[in-house]
Amino acid sequence: MPVVEAVSFSIAAGRTLGLVGESGCGKSVTALAMMRLLPMPPARIDGGRIWFDGVDLLALATPAMRQVRGDRIGMIFQEPMTSLNPTLTVGYQIAEVLRLHRGLGAVAARERSIEMLRLVGVGAPERRFEQYPHQLSGGLRQRVMIAIALVCHPDLLIADEPTTALDVTIQAQILDLLRRLQREMGMAILLITHDLGVVAELCDEVAVMYAGRIVEQGATAALLAAPRHPYTAGLLASSPRRTPRGRSCRRFPAWCRRPASAAPAAASPSAARAPSSAAAASGPSSSRSAPGTPRPAGTPRREPRCSSWPGSRSTIAAATAAA
Ligand SMILES: Nc1ncnc2c1ncn2[C@@H]1O[C@H](COP(=O)(O)OP(=O)(O)OP(=O)(O)O)[C@@H](O)[C@H]1O
Ligand SMILES: [Mg+2]
Repeated sequence: MPVVEAVSFSIAAGRTLGLVGESGCGKSVTALAMMRLLPMPPARIDGGRIWFDGVDLLALATPAMRQVRGDRIGMIFQEPMTSLNPTLTVGYQIAEVLRLHRGLGAVAARERSIEMLRLVGVGAPERRFEQYPHQLSGGLRQRVMIAIALVCHPDLLIADEPTTALDVTIQAQILDLLRRLQREMGMAILLITHDLGVVAELCDEVAVMYAGRIVEQGATAALLAAPRHPYTAGLLASSPRRTPRGRSCRRFPAWCRRPASAAPAAASPSAARAPSSAAAASGPSSSRSAPGTPRPAGTPRREPRCSSWPGSRSTIAAATAAA
Protein backbone atom coordinates (compact mmCIF):
# COMPACT_ATOMS: atom_id res chain seq x y z
CA MET A 1 0.00 0.00 0.00
CA PRO A 2 1.54 3.36 -0.99
CA VAL A 3 2.36 5.54 2.00
CA VAL A 4 3.76 8.46 0.00
CA GLU A 5 2.95 9.11 -3.64
CA ALA A 6 3.87 11.70 -6.28
CA VAL A 7 5.70 13.87 -3.79
CA SER A 8 7.81 16.46 -5.59
CA PHE A 9 9.65 19.49 -4.28
CA SER A 10 13.02 21.16 -4.58
CA ILE A 11 15.15 23.22 -2.20
CA ALA A 12 17.86 25.55 -3.43
CA ALA A 13 21.10 26.12 -1.51
CA GLY A 14 20.57 28.58 1.30
CA ARG A 15 16.79 28.17 1.24
CA THR A 16 14.36 26.51 3.63
CA LEU A 17 11.32 24.48 2.72
CA GLY A 18 8.79 23.75 5.44
CA LEU A 19 6.95 20.44 5.22
CA VAL A 20 3.74 20.45 7.24
CA GLY A 21 0.80 18.09 7.42
CA GLU A 22 -1.33 16.16 9.81
CA SER A 23 0.10 13.34 11.87
CA GLY A 24 0.62 10.18 9.82
CA CYS A 25 0.46 11.89 6.43
CA GLY A 26 3.97 10.74 5.47
CA LYS A 27 6.39 13.56 6.35
CA SER A 28 8.89 11.38 8.19
CA VAL A 29 8.60 8.60 5.61
CA THR A 30 9.45 11.18 2.91
CA ALA A 31 12.50 12.34 4.89
CA LEU A 32 13.67 8.79 5.61
CA ALA A 33 13.23 7.88 1.94
CA MET A 34 15.46 10.82 0.98
CA MET A 35 18.12 9.52 3.37
CA ARG A 36 17.54 5.95 2.16
CA LEU A 37 16.88 4.94 5.73
CA LEU A 38 13.53 3.22 5.28
CA PRO A 39 13.73 -0.41 6.36
CA MET A 40 13.57 -2.38 3.11
CA PRO A 41 11.71 -4.69 3.32
CA PRO A 42 8.97 -4.03 4.30
CA ALA A 43 9.27 -0.58 2.66
CA ARG A 44 9.75 -0.35 -1.10
CA ILE A 45 10.47 2.56 -3.40
CA ASP A 46 8.65 1.86 -6.64
CA GLY A 47 9.88 4.77 -8.70
CA GLY A 48 10.97 8.36 -8.87
CA ARG A 49 14.25 10.18 -8.34
CA ILE A 50 15.84 11.95 -5.40
CA TRP A 51 18.28 14.45 -6.90
CA PHE A 52 20.99 15.88 -4.68
CA ASP A 53 23.56 18.15 -6.28
CA GLY A 54 23.08 16.47 -9.66
CA VAL A 55 23.23 12.91 -8.31
CA ASP A 56 20.26 10.58 -8.00
CA LEU A 57 20.53 9.28 -4.44
CA LEU A 58 18.41 6.26 -5.29
CA ALA A 59 21.02 5.15 -7.82
CA LEU A 60 23.97 5.41 -5.41
CA ALA A 61 25.68 2.30 -4.13
CA THR A 62 25.36 1.77 -0.39
CA PRO A 63 28.94 2.85 0.51
CA ALA A 64 28.56 6.06 -1.53
CA MET A 65 25.24 6.78 0.13
CA ARG A 66 26.89 6.27 3.51
CA GLN A 67 29.41 8.95 2.59
CA VAL A 68 26.63 11.41 1.73
CA ARG A 69 24.62 10.64 4.84
CA GLY A 70 25.85 12.47 7.91
CA ASP A 71 28.36 14.47 5.91
CA ARG A 72 26.65 16.29 3.03
CA ILE A 73 23.13 15.58 4.26
CA GLY A 74 22.49 15.79 7.98
CA MET A 75 19.30 14.65 9.59
CA ILE A 76 17.72 15.52 12.90
CA PHE A 77 15.43 12.60 13.65
CA GLN A 78 12.00 13.00 15.15
CA GLU A 79 12.66 10.48 17.93
CA PRO A 80 15.81 11.50 19.82
CA MET A 81 15.16 8.80 22.43
CA THR A 82 15.49 5.96 19.95
CA SER A 83 17.97 7.49 17.52
CA LEU A 84 20.94 7.54 19.87
CA ASN A 85 22.89 4.39 20.69
CA PRO A 86 22.30 3.73 24.41
CA THR A 87 25.58 1.83 24.78
CA LEU A 88 27.87 4.66 23.62
CA THR A 89 28.56 8.04 25.20
CA VAL A 90 27.01 10.95 23.38
CA GLY A 91 30.49 12.38 22.88
CA TYR A 92 31.59 9.24 21.09
CA GLN A 93 28.54 9.43 18.84
CA ILE A 94 29.24 13.02 17.79
CA ALA A 95 32.99 12.54 17.41
CA GLU A 96 32.43 9.37 15.37
CA VAL A 97 30.83 11.44 12.60
CA LEU A 98 33.91 13.68 12.44
CA ARG A 99 36.31 10.74 12.49
CA LEU A 100 34.41 8.90 9.76
CA HIS A 101 33.67 11.80 7.43
CA ARG A 102 36.45 14.26 8.15
CA GLY A 103 39.21 11.90 9.23
CA LEU A 104 39.84 13.87 12.44
CA GLY A 105 41.95 12.37 15.20
CA ALA A 106 40.49 11.69 18.64
CA VAL A 107 41.62 14.98 20.20
CA ALA A 108 40.46 17.24 17.38
CA ALA A 109 37.16 15.35 17.09
CA ARG A 110 36.59 15.74 20.82
CA GLU A 111 37.29 19.47 20.74
CA ARG A 112 35.01 20.07 17.80
CA SER A 113 32.25 17.94 19.32
CA ILE A 114 32.38 19.85 22.59
CA GLU A 115 32.27 23.13 20.68
CA MET A 116 29.23 21.87 18.79
CA LEU A 117 27.51 20.83 22.04
CA ARG A 118 28.13 24.33 23.36
CA LEU A 119 26.70 25.84 20.17
CA VAL A 120 23.44 23.94 20.49
CA GLY A 121 22.97 25.12 24.05
CA VAL A 122 24.30 22.20 26.11
CA GLY A 123 25.72 23.47 29.41
CA ALA A 124 28.92 21.90 30.80
CA PRO A 125 29.62 20.24 27.44
CA GLU A 126 32.88 18.62 28.61
CA ARG A 127 30.93 16.67 31.23
CA ARG A 128 28.03 15.87 28.89
CA PHE A 129 30.49 14.58 26.30
CA GLU A 130 31.32 11.68 28.63
CA GLN A 131 27.73 10.78 29.47
CA TYR A 132 25.39 8.16 28.06
CA PRO A 133 22.01 9.04 26.51
CA HIS A 134 20.06 7.71 29.51
CA GLN A 135 21.84 10.25 31.73
CA LEU A 136 20.43 13.14 29.70
CA SER A 137 16.98 14.69 29.70
CA GLY A 138 14.83 14.51 26.56
CA GLY A 139 15.71 18.08 25.63
CA LEU A 140 19.43 17.43 26.00
CA ARG A 141 19.20 14.29 23.90
CA GLN A 142 17.45 16.30 21.20
CA ARG A 143 20.27 18.85 21.28
CA VAL A 144 22.80 16.03 20.95
CA MET A 145 20.92 14.84 17.86
CA ILE A 146 21.08 18.35 16.47
CA ALA A 147 24.82 18.51 17.18
CA ILE A 148 25.37 15.22 15.32
CA ALA A 149 23.39 16.48 12.34
CA LEU A 150 25.25 19.79 12.13
CA VAL A 151 28.78 18.87 13.14
CA CYS A 152 29.94 18.27 9.56
CA HIS A 153 28.22 21.43 8.28
CA PRO A 154 26.02 19.61 5.77
CA ASP A 155 24.82 21.08 2.46
CA LEU A 156 21.31 19.85 3.21
CA LEU A 157 19.79 19.53 6.64
CA ILE A 158 16.64 17.48 7.06
CA ALA A 159 15.14 18.47 10.37
CA ASP A 160 12.17 16.36 11.47
CA GLU A 161 10.43 18.25 14.29
CA PRO A 162 13.83 19.47 15.54
CA THR A 163 12.65 21.62 18.41
CA THR A 164 9.49 19.90 19.58
CA ALA A 165 10.96 18.60 22.86
CA LEU A 166 12.70 21.86 23.71
CA ASP A 167 11.59 24.78 25.83
CA VAL A 168 11.04 28.04 23.99
CA THR A 169 14.36 29.62 25.00
CA ILE A 170 16.39 26.72 23.65
CA GLN A 171 14.05 26.49 20.67
CA ALA A 172 14.86 30.10 19.80
CA GLN A 173 18.60 29.40 20.22
CA ILE A 174 18.42 26.39 17.91
CA LEU A 175 16.45 28.27 15.27
CA ASP A 176 18.98 31.13 15.44
CA LEU A 177 21.78 28.60 15.07
CA LEU A 178 20.12 27.05 12.02
CA ARG A 179 19.63 30.49 10.49
CA ARG A 180 23.24 31.46 11.12
CA LEU A 181 24.68 28.23 9.73
CA GLN A 182 22.44 28.60 6.74
CA ARG A 183 23.65 32.15 6.16
CA GLU A 184 27.30 31.25 6.61
CA MET A 185 27.36 28.01 4.66
CA GLY A 186 24.46 28.25 2.25
CA MET A 187 22.91 25.14 3.80
CA ALA A 188 19.54 24.08 2.41
CA ILE A 189 16.99 23.01 5.02
CA LEU A 190 13.98 20.75 4.83
CA LEU A 191 12.09 21.58 7.99
CA ILE A 192 9.32 19.24 9.10
CA THR A 193 7.13 20.82 11.72
CA HIS A 194 3.60 21.41 12.96
CA ASP A 195 4.53 24.86 14.23
CA LEU A 196 3.42 27.52 11.78
CA GLY A 197 5.20 30.16 13.87
CA VAL A 198 8.47 28.39 13.10
CA VAL A 199 7.44 28.04 9.45
CA ALA A 200 6.66 31.75 9.18
CA GLU A 201 9.99 32.65 10.78
CA LEU A 202 12.29 30.26 9.00
CA CYS A 203 10.82 28.96 5.75
CA ASP A 204 10.94 30.52 2.31
CA GLU A 205 8.44 28.00 1.00
CA VAL A 206 5.94 25.58 2.46
CA ALA A 207 4.59 22.26 1.22
CA VAL A 208 1.48 20.84 2.84
CA MET A 209 1.10 17.06 2.86
CA TYR A 210 -2.11 15.19 3.23
CA ALA A 211 -2.59 11.41 2.99
CA GLY A 212 0.82 10.89 1.42
CA ARG A 213 0.60 13.63 -1.20
CA ILE A 214 1.54 17.26 -1.38
CA VAL A 215 -1.73 19.12 -1.66
CA GLU A 216 -0.57 22.70 -1.43
CA GLN A 217 2.80 24.35 -2.00
CA GLY A 218 4.08 27.88 -2.36
CA ALA A 219 5.88 30.87 -0.91
CA THR A 220 5.38 31.00 2.85
CA ALA A 221 3.80 34.44 3.14
CA ALA A 222 1.32 33.83 0.32
CA LEU A 223 0.36 30.36 1.51
CA LEU A 224 -0.16 31.42 5.11
CA ALA A 225 -2.14 34.47 4.02
CA ALA A 226 -4.55 32.46 1.89
CA PRO A 227 -4.44 28.74 2.72
CA ARG A 228 -6.41 26.58 0.33
CA HIS A 229 -6.36 23.22 2.03
CA PRO A 230 -8.60 22.67 5.06
CA TYR A 231 -5.70 21.22 7.06
CA THR A 232 -3.60 24.36 6.52
CA ALA A 233 -6.57 26.58 7.35
CA GLY A 234 -7.29 24.55 10.51
CA LEU A 235 -3.66 24.66 11.57
CA LEU A 236 -3.60 28.42 11.09
CA ALA A 237 -6.83 28.88 13.00
CA SER A 238 -5.37 27.14 16.03
CA SER A 239 -1.95 28.79 15.92
CA PRO A 240 -0.55 31.43 18.23
CA ARG A 241 -1.39 34.98 17.22
CA ARG A 242 0.44 38.23 17.80
CA THR A 243 -1.36 40.46 20.24
CA PRO A 244 -1.29 44.25 19.81
CA ARG A 245 1.50 44.39 22.41
CA GLY A 246 3.61 42.18 20.19
CA ARG A 247 3.42 39.16 22.48
CA SER A 248 2.13 35.87 21.23
CA CYS A 249 -0.80 34.22 22.92
CA ARG A 250 -2.65 31.00 22.18
CA ARG A 251 -6.05 31.62 20.78
CA PHE A 252 -8.52 30.21 23.22
CA PRO A 253 -11.77 28.69 22.06
CA ALA A 254 -14.80 30.95 22.44
CA TRP A 255 -15.99 29.28 25.65
CA CYS A 256 -12.97 30.37 27.63
CA ARG A 257 -12.57 33.89 26.25
CA ARG A 258 -13.31 36.75 28.58
CA PRO A 259 -16.63 38.42 27.81
CA ALA A 260 -15.86 42.05 26.90
CA SER A 261 -18.28 43.58 29.40
CA ALA A 262 -17.75 41.18 32.28
CA ALA A 263 -16.55 42.41 35.65
CA PRO A 264 -13.14 40.97 36.70
CA ALA A 265 -14.57 38.57 39.30
CA ALA A 266 -16.99 37.08 36.80
CA ALA A 267 -14.39 36.90 34.09
CA SER A 268 -12.44 33.88 35.29
CA PRO A 269 -12.21 31.01 32.81
CA SER A 270 -14.49 28.85 34.90
CA ALA A 271 -17.05 31.63 34.93
CA ALA A 272 -16.97 31.89 31.19
CA ARG A 273 -17.21 28.12 30.94
CA ALA A 274 -20.17 27.80 33.29
CA PRO A 275 -22.22 30.97 33.00
CA SER A 276 -25.22 29.30 34.57
CA SER A 277 -23.32 28.43 37.73
CA ALA A 278 -23.85 31.43 39.95
CA ALA A 279 -21.48 30.14 42.65
CA ALA A 280 -18.64 29.68 40.19
CA ALA A 281 -19.29 32.91 38.34
CA SER A 282 -19.48 35.22 41.28
CA GLY A 283 -17.34 33.52 43.86
CA PRO A 284 -13.59 32.99 43.83
CA SER A 285 -12.56 29.99 41.79
CA SER A 286 -9.54 28.03 40.61
CA SER A 287 -9.12 27.11 36.99
CA ARG A 288 -8.58 23.54 38.19
CA SER A 289 -11.85 23.43 40.09
CA ALA A 290 -14.93 21.95 38.56
CA PRO A 291 -17.51 24.65 37.77
CA GLY A 292 -19.34 25.45 40.95
CA THR A 293 -16.71 24.01 43.31
CA PRO A 294 -16.12 26.61 46.03
CA ARG A 295 -12.50 27.66 46.54
CA PRO A 296 -11.16 26.61 49.94
CA ALA A 297 -10.76 29.55 52.30
CA GLY A 298 -7.36 31.22 52.05
CA THR A 299 -6.50 29.76 48.65
CA PRO A 300 -5.20 32.49 46.33
CA ARG A 301 -7.18 33.14 43.17
CA ARG A 302 -5.72 31.73 39.94
CA GLU A 303 -5.94 33.89 36.87
CA PRO A 304 -5.04 32.76 33.38
CA ARG A 305 -1.33 33.16 32.67
CA CYS A 306 -1.75 35.08 29.48
CA SER A 307 -0.04 38.37 28.80
CA SER A 308 -2.99 39.66 26.81
CA TRP A 309 -5.43 38.97 29.62
CA PRO A 310 -6.01 42.28 31.43
CA GLY A 311 -4.66 42.24 34.95
CA SER A 312 -2.90 38.91 34.55
CA ARG A 313 0.57 40.38 35.09
CA SER A 314 -0.27 41.46 38.62
CA THR A 315 -1.65 38.05 39.50
CA ILE A 316 1.21 35.93 38.13
CA ALA A 317 2.84 35.60 41.55
CA ALA A 318 -0.42 34.54 43.17
CA ALA A 319 -1.11 32.13 40.34
CA THR A 320 2.33 30.59 40.74
CA ALA A 321 1.84 30.24 44.45
CA ALA A 322 -1.46 28.49 43.90
CA ALA A 323 -0.16 26.14 41.24
N1 LIG B 1 8.11 1.26 9.67
C1 LIG B 1 6.85 1.39 9.31
N2 LIG B 1 6.09 0.33 9.02
C2 LIG B 1 4.81 0.45 8.64
N3 LIG B 1 4.15 1.62 8.52
C3 LIG B 1 4.85 2.73 8.78
C4 LIG B 1 6.21 2.69 9.21
N4 LIG B 1 6.63 3.95 9.38
C5 LIG B 1 5.56 4.73 9.10
N5 LIG B 1 4.51 4.01 8.75
C6 LIG B 1 3.19 4.52 8.36
O1 LIG B 1 3.39 5.48 7.33
C7 LIG B 1 2.47 6.54 7.48
C8 LIG B 1 3.20 7.85 7.49
O2 LIG B 1 3.95 7.93 8.69
P1 LIG B 1 4.94 9.12 9.02
O3 LIG B 1 5.75 8.67 10.20
O4 LIG B 1 5.69 9.50 7.79
O5 LIG B 1 3.94 10.27 9.44
P2 LIG B 1 4.26 11.79 9.82
O6 LIG B 1 3.61 12.65 8.79
O7 LIG B 1 5.73 11.95 10.02
O8 LIG B 1 3.46 11.96 11.19
P3 LIG B 1 3.87 12.73 12.55
O9 LIG B 1 3.53 14.16 12.32
O10 LIG B 1 3.00 12.09 13.58
O11 LIG B 1 5.33 12.51 12.80
C9 LIG B 1 1.68 6.28 8.76
O12 LIG B 1 0.44 5.75 8.41
C10 LIG B 1 2.53 5.28 9.49
O13 LIG B 1 1.74 4.44 10.29
MG1 LIG C 1 6.92 12.23 11.65
